[in-house]
Amino acid sequence: MKNLEIFKESEKYMPGGVNSAVRAFKGINLNPPIIKSGKGVMITDEDDNEYIDFVLAWGPLLLGHSDEDVVKAIQKISLKAVAFGAPTKLELDMAKFMCTNLDNIEMIRMVNSGTEATMSAIKLARGYTNRNKIVKFAGCYHGHFDGFLVEAGSGVMTGGIPGSLGVPKESIENTLIGIYNNKKQIEELFEKHGNEIAGVIIEPVAGNMGVIKAEDDFMETLRKLCDSYGALLIFDEVMSGFRVDFKGAQSLFKVKPDLVTYAKIMGGGLPCGAYGGRKEIMEKLSPLGGVYQAGTMSGNSIVMAAGLATLNKIKNNLDYYDHIEKMGAKFEEGVLTISKKYNLPVVINRVGGMMTIFFTDLKVVRTYDDVKKCDVEKFNKYFEHMLKNGINIAPSQFEAIFLSAKHEESHIDKFIKTFEEFACNC
Ligand SMILES: Cc1ncc(COP(=O)(O)O)c(C=O)c1O
Repeated sequence: MKNLEIFKESEKYMPGGVNSAVRAFKGINLNPPIIKSGKGVMITDEDDNEYIDFVLAWGPLLLGHSDEDVVKAIQKISLKAVAFGAPTKLELDMAKFMCTNLDNIEMIRMVNSGTEATMSAIKLARGYTNRNKIVKFAGCYHGHFDGFLVEAGSGVMTGGIPGSLGVPKESIENTLIGIYNNKKQIEELFEKHGNEIAGVIIEPVAGNMGVIKAEDDFMETLRKLCDSYGALLIFDEVMSGFRVDFKGAQSLFKVKPDLVTYAKIMGGGLPCGAYGGRKEIMEKLSPLGGVYQAGTMSGNSIVMAAGLATLNKIKNNLDYYDHIEKMGAKFEEGVLTISKKYNLPVVINRVGGMMTIFFTDLKVVRTYDDVKKCDVEKFNKYFEHMLKNGINIAPSQFEAIFLSAKHEESHIDKFIKTFEEFACNC
C-alpha cells in the first residue's frame, strides 16, 4: 500500500487517521506521509520518499532513529524481561541515574508519558499544599489533561481552539492563566489568588508556541512569588530535559524548581515519563503518603533499558551538545542570511538543539502575543515546499525544529538550500 491509500484506509478506523491529533496535518491541508523506517536522521515513507528528519518523534531522538546501542539494549532485555508489574533493578538504575545526574531531583517516580508526568506533578502539588489552584502559561502545553487544556500550545494552538470539548468547566475553574515573560501580570495574579495557588507549572524553555526562552528576571519573580505564598514551582522539562543541555533547562537559570517533569529523551523513543523533586514533597506520594498515583506499565523493563542506553550514551558523549550547538548556529546563520538576501522577514529563536523560524515582521518574539502575530499562511507554504523537497519539520508555526547528534553539515546545507528555493519564490 502507498502513502495515500494507507492514510485514507486509516481514516476509516482511526479518528482523523491518526493516534495523535498533531500528526494529521489538518492545519496544512495535506495528507501526511506514512513513515515506514528511520535510521540516523533519515526517514522513509511508504512511497519510498526519503526525508531529513527535524522532528525526531517530536523531540525524543537526540541520538537519531534506531541508534545501534538503544536497539541492542531493547533486543537484549526483551529476551528476559518485558513486563512484571513488580520492582526491578532497572528501575533503580534509572531512578539513580536521574537523581544523581540532575539537579533538584532527590526522588523520582516513573510514568508512561509526559501528560502523565505533568498531571501527576500537579496532583502532588495540590496534595502537598492542600490547595487547588494551579497557574499555567498561555501557549505552554503540558499534555492533554483536562486542567491544562486552556490557552494551550502545540496542537490546541495550531487548531485555533480555545480549549477542548469534553472538559467540564469544573475541571478548569482552578486553572489560572499566566502570561509568559510578563512579571507584572503574574504578580497581580498572585496578589489576587496567591493563598489558593498550589503550584505554577512552566516550560522554562517553551517549545509548544514555537521556541521562547523564559527571561531570567521573570523566572526569579516566579520563584519569589511561589516562596512568599507557599506554592510549588514546577518545571515541565518533558521537551527541554536532556535537550537544551544534559542537565536540561534548569541549568540555564539561577532559580531552583520544587518539582520537575521529564519524558521524551529519557525514554529513548519508547513511551516514558517521570516526575521528581524534593524528598519531603515526593514522600507525599502513595504508598508513603496520601496522594494516590499508580501505573501498570510504569517503569516497564524495555522502556527503562532503552532510556538508560540513551542517557548513558549521552552522558558518555557530552560533546554531542557541542556538535548540536555548532549545527544549530550554522542553521541559524544560514536561514538568517537567506531571509536578508530575499527580504523575507523571519525571527529565529534557538536554544541549543531546539529552535523555531517565526515568519514575522517583529524584531523579537518573546511572548505568546508576539507568536500569535506570525504569518501562518507563509509558514504553511514553507512547510509544503520543505516536505515536498525531502525536509521533515513539524506541520505548525507553533512547534520546534529539533537537531540530533547525527545531524551533519550536509543535512543543514540541504535545509538551507531548500529554504532558499522557497524564499526566492516568495
Ligand atoms: C512540554 C511538554 N509537556 C508535556 C507534554 C505531553 O507529553 P506526552 O505527549 O508524552 O503526553 C509535551 C508533549 O509534547 C510537552 O512538549
